[in-house]
Amino acid sequence: MNHDPLDEAADAHDAGASENSNENAGENAALRHRRIRSFVTRAGRVSVGQQRAIDELGPRFVLPYAPQHADWDAVFGRQAPRVLEIGFGMGATTAEIAAARPGDDFIGVEVHEPGVGALLKLIGEQGLGNIRILQHDAVEVLEHMIAPDSLDGVHIYFPDPWHKARHHKRRLIQPKFVAQLVARIRPGGYIHLATDWQNYAEQMLEVLSAEPALENTADGYAPRPDFRPVTKFERRGLRLGHGVWDLMFRRR
Ligand SMILES: C[S@@+](CC[C@H](N)C(=O)[O-])C[C@H]1O[C@@H](n2cnc3c(N)ncnc32)[C@H](O)[C@@H]1O
Repeated sequence: MNHDPLDEAADAHDAGASENSNENAGENAALRHRRIRSFVTRAGRVSVGQQRAIDELGPRFVLPYAPQHADWDAVFGRQAPRVLEIGFGMGATTAEIAAARPGDDFIGVEVHEPGVGALLKLIGEQGLGNIRILQHDAVEVLEHMIAPDSLDGVHIYFPDPWHKARHHKRRLIQPKFVAQLVARIRPGGYIHLATDWQNYAEQMLEVLSAEPALENTADGYAPRPDFRPVTKFERRGLRLGHGVWDLMFRRR
């Protein structure tokens, strides 16, 4: 995945901003003063199967965004270790991990509609009961819907690398956001990141190492834990000699 699918859209966006339209000026102000904007809304084609999954399974497995703490025990109908995944893409990794860890519950957050449909399809095909989905900006979900000390783990796999230096401000893994994330992980809980972009891996290691509430479980980068499956893209990248870096930190 050594590409930045959203770069073009972001370039168009930045071009608009330099013309100083009110809308873009407003969003830039939001970027400066408030939160990271780590994605650009893309129009994606939802397949017939994905749409069917959204219609049939959406009401049960997709939660509406609301700016207040959710009662996750009530949502999942049980009390179990809870993992937040940010940006699950098409959800293949999410489904595989959830199937392998039936005792844990997974909150998957993704803005891209075809991805939501794809994961719902996998939930239906595999009869997975331990995933719920939010189709919303994860930065807002984290800020408003997740209580302090309530997560057992956080997964962020191959987040958009935002290759160009002037887009680095859009990267999710930055000190302020990591501090917000860590505050919602219970002591002893973990944060697991993976990327195939070396410059972002270095930023991840620097930011996580500098966060006083985290400790590294490895000496630098971590070996890929068995529970994270190797994705199709990753396998192809590895064949081509590209690197993949995992990071596994624990909350103190
Ligand atoms: C490069 S993809 C990786 C997808 C998947 N994790 C994988 O390993 O294949 C990054 C995903 O993160 C999603 N994303 C980025 N920022 C997000 C945010 N703030 N909230 C929710 N989803 C986000 C994007 O829509 C995209 O699908």
